[in-house]
Amino acid sequence: MDNNFKDLPKSYWLDSTPDTNYPSLEEDINVDIVIIGGGLAGLNIAYLLQKEGLKITILEADRICKGTTAYTTAKITSQHGLIYGKIQGKFGDEIASLYGKANETAIKMYEDIINKNQIDCDFIYESAFVFTQDDKYMEKIEDEVEIASNIGIDAFYVDEIPFPMDIKGAIGFNNQAQFHPRKYILALANIIQDKVQIYENTRAVDIEEDNEYIITTEQGKKVKAKKVIIASHYPFYNKKGMYFAKIFPKKSYIVGIEAEEKYPGGMYINAEKPTRSLRHQNIPNGELILVVGGYPDVGKKEDTNKNYDALIEFANNIFTVKDIPYRWSTQDYITLDEIPYIGYFTSDTPNMYIATGFQKWGMTNSMVSAMLIKDLIIDGKSPWQEVYNPSRKNIIASAKNFIVENLNVANQLLDGKLSPLPEDISLKPGEAKIIKIHKERIGAYRDEEGVLHFVNTTCTHMGCELNWNSAERTWDCPCHGSIFDIDGKIIQGPAVEPLKAGNNVNTIKKLLKEDF
Ligand code: FES
Repeated sequence: MDNNFKDLPKSYWLDSTPDTNYPSLEEDINVDIVIIGGGLAGLNIAYLLQKEGLKITILEADRICKGTTAYTTAKITSQHGLIYGKIQGKFGDEIASLYGKANETAIKMYEDIINKNQIDCDFIYESAFVFTQDDKYMEKIEDEVEIASNIGIDAFYVDEIPFPMDIKGAIGFNNQAQFHPRKYILALANIIQDKVQIYENTRAVDIEEDNEYIITTEQGKKVKAKKVIIASHYPFYNKKGMYFAKIFPKKSYIVGIEAEEKYPGGMYINAEKPTRSLRHQNIPNGELILVVGGYPDVGKKEDTNKNYDALIEFANNIFTVKDIPYRWSTQDYITLDEIPYIGYFTSDTPNMYIATGFQKWGMTNSMVSAMLIKDLIIDGKSPWQEVYNPSRKNIIASAKNFIVENLNVANQLLDGKLSPLPEDISLKPGEAKIIKIHKERIGAYRDEEGVLHFVNTTCTHMGCELNWNSAERTWDCPCHGSIFDIDGKIIQGPAVEPLKAGNNVNTIKKLLKEDF
């Protein structure tokens, strides 16, 4: 089946759940703990902490669970690709074992919370598999079975999976799970709202440190807090921690298909590149199969629709595709050594915490964040703090990634400023171009009704030049992943200021050909 990309992408998780309507913060407040970010990590942290009798508030820049969590594949797994071999190779048996225990505990914690609160969120246990079609990954897969088994994970080897694919071998983990992430979070928010104040459309834009923390919102309100937890996917706070040099965005694309064949169960991902991954989801009139791929860099100058095309081609090779009702993309942050940063924001901030860099494995790592940060706040220690310590010294072992990724950011910073820009500035409906005039770069987009939209394409975070994302119709930053809409409004940070309108828009309007 061919694609039909006339409509904008939409996420099944968003399409199948209601909007939320929590208030914005309208006054200055004092709390014990402020959590910045109302996604899965923020809500899980709030749930575990609210039992401790603390005054907690969540500040969400948009609506809760409308960011990355609304665009995930929602696999709740301790199987994160071939992670155990990598961790063991870099950091040894003990760290690999602790990582495995943390993530296995996270799966059980989801089950406990869901059962205890009777949350209807399509939670089911499934086995998860990493397969390969390439001989050179076989040794790694066999090693992974041994390492995972040794640390107590129910891992096993198989030489086939139930799809018409010629694979060399695969590793399976039993007792993994999947769910509907928005059904879970919306229920969780409902459960905690008597004890936790949730504010939506309340973007935190600054943090000052005095005896306590003072968080300023976009609307100029102040939140005074003894402790602050930054769970906003990417930390906007740059005064400490150098996170802008330690985490890097990667994109994933998802198509939700309906097929003639019944999905055989299980969750699958390949070991090689390009990444391909599968899971299913029961929907009211049947079954949606999620076909996932990635992970290209963010904000590249290319037609991003080709990423959806590649997934549809992959799906057509495995299934008889009847319909493609959904497609969407998401963005995750990758750390230098592939282990998230969860814990104290820096080694000298005992009352500021961070949860970020979940790689592509945000479900279990969000719950690990909740358990770990709750333990640090209540008990002063966690069994997993060494593994996830954001200030870990052995991160230096990943110095090569540090150099490569920061070189990439530096190149993007320069490349955007130097790239030649189009001389022909005619613009058809649905088309966008960057036009340089009087040293200013203006992004111009003509929508389907012919209306022009302009932005200054210099990112308000740290000054990189944005590129047009044709699939999502957004302006994306290649450096740290900020995303802006056609009028410059922030869709995703770390930027905390919208794009400027541009000083030379009127000149461009006159130059643009009317007869599109
Ligand atoms: Fe950092 Fe754009 S997100 S410069």
